[in-house]
Amino acid sequence: LTASAVLDRAFVVGPVRPRTFGTFVEHLGRCVYHGIFEPDHPQADEDGLRTDVLELVRELGTTTVRYPGGNFVSGYRWEDGVGPVDRRPARLDLAWHSTDPNTFGVDEFMRWTAKAGVEPMMAVNLGTRGVQEALDLLEYCNVPGGSHFADMRRANGAPDPYRVRMWCLGNEMDGPWQIGHKTAEEYGRLAAETARAMRMIDPDLELVACGSSNSRMPTFGEWEATVLREAYEHVDHISAHAYYYEDDGDLASFLASATDMDYFIDSVAATADYVRAARKQSKRVHISFDEWNVWYQKRAESRPPSGDDWPVAPVLLEDRYNVADAVVVGNLLISLLRHTDRVHAASLAQLVNVIAPIMTEDRGPAWRQTTFHPFALTARHAAGEVLRPAVAAPTVETAQFGEVSAIDLVATRDDDGAVVFVVNRSVTEPVGLSLDVRSLGVSRVHEAVTLANPDHTWQATAADSTSVLPRPNTSAGLDDARLSVELPPVSWSMIRLG
Ligand code: AHR
Repeated sequence: LTASAVLDRAFVVGPVRPRTFGTFVEHLGRCVYHGIFEPDHPQADEDGLRTDVLELVRELGTTTVRYPGGNFVSGYRWEDGVGPVDRRPARLDLAWHSTDPNTFGVDEFMRWTAKAGVEPMMAVNLGTRGVQEALDLLEYCNVPGGSHFADMRRANGAPDPYRVRMWCLGNEMDGPWQIGHKTAEEYGRLAAETARAMRMIDPDLELVACGSSNSRMPTFGEWEATVLREAYEHVDHISAHAYYYEDDGDLASFLASATDMDYFIDSVAATADYVRAARKQSKRVHISFDEWNVWYQKRAESRPPSGDDWPVAPVLLEDRYNVADAVVVGNLLISLLRHTDRVHAASLAQLVNVIAPIMTEDRGPAWRQTTFHPFALTARHAAGEVLRPAVAAPTVETAQFGEVSAIDLVATRDDDGAVVFVVNRSVTEPVGLSLDVRSLGVSRVHEAVTLANPDHTWQATAADSTSVLPRPNTSAGLDDARLSVELPPVSWSMIRLG
């Protein structure tokens, strides 16, 4: 198969936003305990933080990290996790049927973000709690001193405020599984009042209202419209969450998952703009796609414990990713980048052990899943402005999405050159791509790498995480301002031009 595309420096969607490369740390399974925090690990530092994990987090290039949940946050009492560790209570975590020892809390997280060089993004509990507790946590985090919770933080060893800018107003409040689940009207009112009061402490916050948990929710669309009718003036972003997996061996549909992400983003943006018009507002509400990934939710190991079993940090949601999963992750990043005009933040869910690019062995090594690589390379090399390409490509037939383009691509451009991120979603056919880059002023291929494998089900493990990595793609060449490259089936590629 062959495909062609044109890239033009004039077709700018918007800037590459660092926050597109956010991730997520929830008190869930082994994400915090035995993930980022394991005091008796040989490589733990003086704060009990795993330095081997910190190194991989830096290599991944994540920018913003959302915390502490997720479903967990809807039953969380943040005060349990601050102050002298020996006085912190262990609590039942109803969301994941686990016990949280609370030996890791807000202050430990903030120390971890400083060491990882990432921006914290906090979520408040609007499930079992409300306006007051959100204000208390905000005061603890952002007020310099002289008031109860600010002085409590100082006494707990943090003289300077954390000045957290981005706050999620609850989590997935549209979901019947959520503790304190609400109707759109109930949640919209609560979000508006919480936001209004939080801004009385700190007017510069960026606040995220909960959107839908996925695009197949029965309330999708109506939920966003109702919540924004209540809260439009008070919030900056509306969230979107989406998880994809290969269902019943339908690889073609799975590889086209970004079609749903595109639809999701376009629909939420249109709904937000409808409320903007109806409420005669001038500002735009943008999207925080603060949970997205591949997640095999139907697998048995995804299910939490039950009955009298309330374990601490059980193995939960520890999906092992294969090459096709990594191609989909790379494609979802392409979708997020091409919507950089409306998606102002995003978080791969999650960061360590729980549906994560980074895995750890208890008291053993940390290692990279296949999905680590497209994320790390995109985060490192996407720079400047996002360009919208014009693509002419063959299509592939999918059961879920009908005919979709076999090729999906996006490009970024800055003073150093341009970078093309492209997937071949054909299950069987290689595609020869010819790209007109005349207007970009580039003269050579700096680097071309492709992630693919004859066996796309190959998974990284602790014992072998390096046999399949993005490899140089020697077919890439630039001739007469035309880039040509061979893209194997089920592949993700990055081509850097300068
Ligand atoms: O990321 C795992 C879970 O998925 C989160 O806790 C929840 O918000 C979502 O349903």
